[in-house]
Amino acid sequence: MDMNSRLDIEDIIRAGVTAPSGDNLQPWHFEAKEDTIDVFITEPDKLDLTIGKHHLYLTHGALIENLVIAADHFGYKTEVTLMPNPDNELHTASIKIEPDTNDYQVDLFRFFKERSTDRSKYYNKPLSEEQKVTLSKPSNNYLEGSRLVFIENRDAIDSLADAVSGQITLFFGHQQLHEMFYRTLRWTAKSALKTRDGLYLKTLRIDSFKALSLHFVLESWTMVNFLKKLSFNKVLAKLEALKYSQTGAFCVLISNDSQTSRKAALNSGRTLQRVWLEATKIQLGVQPAAAMFLIKEALNEQCLQVSEAQEKFIDEKILQSNLACGTTSGEKIIWAIRIGKSKAKKKYPTLRKEPKIMFTQ
Ligand SMILES: Cc1cc2nc3c(=O)[nH]c(=O)nc-3n(C[C@H](O)[C@H](O)[C@H](O)COP(=O)(O)O)c2cc1C
Repeated sequence: MDMNSRLDIEDIIRAGVTAPSGDNLQPWHFEAKEDTIDVFITEPDKLDLTIGKHHLYLTHGALIENLVIAADHFGYKTEVTLMPNPDNELHTASIKIEPDTNDYQVDLFRFFKERSTDRSKYYNKPLSEEQKVTLSKPSNNYLEGSRLVFIENRDAIDSLADAVSGQITLFFGHQQLHEMFYRTLRWTAKSALKTRDGLYLKTLRIDSFKALSLHFVLESWTMVNFLKKLSFNKVLAKLEALKYSQTGAFCVLISNDSQTSRKAALNSGRTLQRVWLEATKIQLGVQPAAAMFLIKEALNEQCLQVSEAQEKFIDEKILQSNLACGTTSGEKIIWAIRIGKSKAKKKYPTLRKEPKIMFTQ
């Protein structure tokens, strides 16, 4: 491989990994040769799989979309084959790249660095028709039979906000989920800088005093379990619901396929990233509200064991989400994002590790 194409491939991948990933796990590595980038899931620890595998494919969809846009920016056209190896479910894409003399096709590359998860409060101002048209551009690009909807009615927003905040009740009510969540937290800038993964407290918009108290309280499951008896997890969920409901809208991807194949999950992730970059372009904040849907997938995939009461709770929250979004029978929600004009004055970047690339020629 000549030096220039190797450098270009490195540039494409480095730009690609600014993509979002569930809990900032960055579960990816790459193999590259002259004209192809192969993308693989780096399988996380068993504990991180408590929430199932589905999120890995959504994440990889966002990554693949970034790689395609970055290749375009650096002067290459791409041909993407999803899940190219039926014997290896960790091999999510093979991306053929070829020098392209045309000017680049999409202008989203320049928003890669600016895009972030914004967990602050948003204004309740509804989205304009123009904003919705921009955001809807990618809707039917990739996922046949899916539709993108905007939830804008105040009661529906509040109901969806309440449903998706059920994740907090579970994160502090289920030992494995609690351990998984707790382990991804980075309490100080120093520890976030050291690992360059996980969720830095400031990006969760928790102030230092609350962070310190939470650190001690949440560290031990015995303490969390004791507080659960006092409905502490429900109070936290209510506070989360209040924040989620402060938004102009929710944008939701609904699929008419009740079975989510790996390819469909990758395509949903590609759509998510396109919508997110378009939102960044028109200066709207975005926060995924994905955990409840991922937890439901994890139950379907039998990655997660829950009590009967917890299963009932999850089903109720999924039903509540479906009602708020007007899904019909046979449809299901793939992802939901809170979207609106952010009140945040300051942004906290989430760091990335150096991507692992193996050059094979
Ligand atoms: C599949 C997926 C699910 C996610 N779910 C949530 C979520 O439920 N709540 C949340 O606040 N952020 C969620 N995120 C955002 C990630 O935590 C975030 O992308 C990651 O920490 C990197 O930060 P950045 O997006 O600011 O670059 C999700 C991201 C992805 C790709």
